[in-house]
Amino acid sequence: MTLLPHEEEEKLGKHLTPGSRHYRAFVSPPDKYDLVSALQFCLLTTLGLREEHTLLDIGCGSLRGGRLFIPYLLSGRYFGVEPEQWLIDDGIKNELGTDIIDIKQPIFYNDRSFSFSVFNQTFDFILAQSIFSHAAQPQIEQCLAEAKKVMKATAIFVANFVEGKFNHSGNDWIYPGSTAYTLDHMTHLVTAQGLSCKPIYWPHPVGLRWILIVHPEYVEHIPPLHKTFPAMRAELDTYKQRLAHIENHPYVKAGLVINKLLRRIKSLKR
Ligand SMILES: C[S@@+](CC[C@H](N)C(=O)[O-])C[C@H]1O[C@@H](n2cnc3c(N)ncnc32)[C@H](O)[C@@H]1O
Repeated sequence: MTLLPHEEEEKLGKHLTPGSRHYRAFVSPPDKYDLVSALQFCLLTTLGLREEHTLLDIGCGSLRGGRLFIPYLLSGRYFGVEPEQWLIDDGIKNELGTDIIDIKQPIFYNDRSFSFSVFNQTFDFILAQSIFSHAAQPQIEQCLAEAKKVMKATAIFVANFVEGKFNHSGNDWIYPGSTAYTLDHMTHLVTAQGLSCKPIYWPHPVGLRWILIVHPEYVEHIPPLHKTFPAMRAELDTYKQRLAHIENHPYVKAGLVINKLLRRIKSLKR
């Protein structure tokens, strides 16, 4: 880990405890902020998220994920639900800037009731990063029921939670502490809503367990994580072959030669 100058560490809230009123510290241990951005983005793109897809980021906080998803997705494809508007504002101010917001037109909604139908939109991907790790059971049930209404047939809902030996039984959101559930119980909560739950291995700095939630008919089609890297490589190889094919076309070849000659002439003139 690189050590940052003291002022920069302070600005990034690295000295603060989780839950402090700072846009980074409020959402988790602030020294893990960048890693958790990267892990969310890598997981979703590995699972097939592409720029034309729609993404619902539940409890998007200060845009720890959004600071990568918003520039990546096409305009109007990123939707964030977050009760604390100040987190969104500070995330934009400190991480993104308003130009990218004008260009990419993300849509935000301040809400605690998991009412996702307000967007009049169905989603290819849904993300609940560090949401079920603080949510009570009735909140998880509500979230799953509402998410099901807006999931496309091929949607992947990516969530994580604290895997424990017992199930949290309170009814309130717990923060900065967390709730915990067994994997069996989390699977039961998902299947009770008529959805399927697939646990996956993906790293997380505080050990949250990742699950994928899909419509039952889609569960067999979830891209296996260990196979998606070769799939991406195959995609890249196809593009490379296409490029080589284009470069071999006589007109393109002639253009490349002329371009090279022009550059040589220009450099001789200098
Ligand atoms: C631990 S933070 C995670 C934020 C974000 N997903 C991330 O990875 O940085 C939990 C977030 O959920 C938000 N939250 C709390 N209750 C919520 C609810 N009922 N619906 C949606 N978000 C909620 C909090 O304000 C906070 O921003």
